[in-house]
Amino acid sequence: MTQAADLLDPAERLDLDGLRALQLERLRNSLRHAYENVPFYRESFDQAGVHPDDCRSLSDLSRFPFTTKADLRAHYPYGMFAVPRERIRRLHASSGTTGRPTVVGYTENDLSMWADMVARSLRAAGARPGDIAHIAYGYGLFTGGLGAHYGAERLGCTVIPASGGMTSRQVTLIQDLKPSVIMVTPSYMLTLLDEFERQGVDPRSTSLRVGVFGAEPWTQDMRREIEERFAIDAVDIYGLSEVIGPGVAQECVETKDGLHVWEDHFFPEVVDPITGEVLPEGEQGELVFTSLTKEAMPIVRYRTRDLTRLLPGTARVFRRMEKVTGRSDDMVILRGVNLFPTQIEEIVLRTPGVAPHFQLRLTTSGRMDALTVRAEARADADAATREAAARSIVQAVKDGIGVSVEAEIVDPESLERSVGKIRRIVDLRERRG
Ligand code: DLL
Repeated sequence: MTQAADLLDPAERLDLDGLRALQLERLRNSLRHAYENVPFYRESFDQAGVHPDDCRSLSDLSRFPFTTKADLRAHYPYGMFAVPRERIRRLHASSGTTGRPTVVGYTENDLSMWADMVARSLRAAGARPGDIAHIAYGYGLFTGGLGAHYGAERLGCTVIPASGGMTSRQVTLIQDLKPSVIMVTPSYMLTLLDEFERQGVDPRSTSLRVGVFGAEPWTQDMRREIEERFAIDAVDIYGLSEVIGPGVAQECVETKDGLHVWEDHFFPEVVDPITGEVLPEGEQGELVFTSLTKEAMPIVRYRTRDLTRLLPGTARVFRRMEKVTGRSDDMVILRGVNLFPTQIEEIVLRTPGVAPHFQLRLTTSGRMDALTVRAEARADADAATREAAARSIVQAVKDGIGVSVEAEIVDPESLERSVGKIRRIVDLRERRG
């Protein structure tokens, strides 16, 4: 069932022809804005022999060059901005585990569009004006907290700006202030779950109705776990700082069938990660975004490294992206076999006696890489259950992914807990060469 039309904003009510016409007009303007105001784009378009006027249809976008994280780093901090610095109202930065961070900037109009997109996302998630929204994404340079915050205010929610951390206080706030909506990373939601149980509060008894989870990959099995343990609807929100922050795409609560990309502002393509060729709808590859309306930092064909595929719209006219299975950076190549942490998540969550907390430890064994899945036992699991769980994980990885790993079932509450984005891979391999 789709949402009542009066709850949709004008762009959500366009038909496909109307949407494509709006996108083309915006795309042409945005390419021109980038070319005229950012020396990097002028050079890269010139080098590729393309000009914004060459974009006469949406498919012409494929003639334009890609932009990568390395390009943003090379122009750190302000080199990608298309407006005078005085017009920038806010900066955010992505941490970046290696090298310089990437700085992104927003004009007043950008901030307003972003708040609109998060408000639209929240509405799609089932939130309504008047709801109380608890925000446990980190506030600060990370876009999660402030991005969610202004969007929830724009929708007309009462906002609790909890930020991440101080887990026992989060539980108290949820108990006392009675939010109906929570926005948090799925891994931190599991940390909250432990804390509810530690305090002897039934997590199913809270006022929470909807959870809007993102900033890291999570699986359908994790959705089931969270929905059952908290008695809520759990939906997926996607975004990245280079494009805007949270609110690039959102799963609709009525269908939970992938995330509708708000493509009136963020134009998606899926490309072959190796050749860069645009792939047809339905094929898996790397997600690429072009902003259609951003002023401060227009972005053209940005390589997200996130792997997914595009599908036609269902609850909305906009295309959907399938839940992101992983980033090309998170892919472990183990003795020639590609493996993503989400594949292990599915296996761990289906294994009896094991809690939804796990870590992947990479080591060197002789000349080979070895991987150990370290998963936590549930509190009530005895020694025999733990042994059976370890065997079952090893077998499931062998059967499902085709590679031998080891599994270690560790004591309850012994693995590091997330307060934001979780780090699944601990790489202890010896450096070679
Ligand atoms: O994580 C923005 C965000 C905040 C999205 C809160 C959703 C909720 P960055 O720190 O720039 O921005 O990281 C972006 O995180 O390229 C993906 O690899 C990953 N990511 C974000 N959302 C999802 C999701 C924010 N729903 C990077 N599923 C992206 C899987 C996600 N991965």
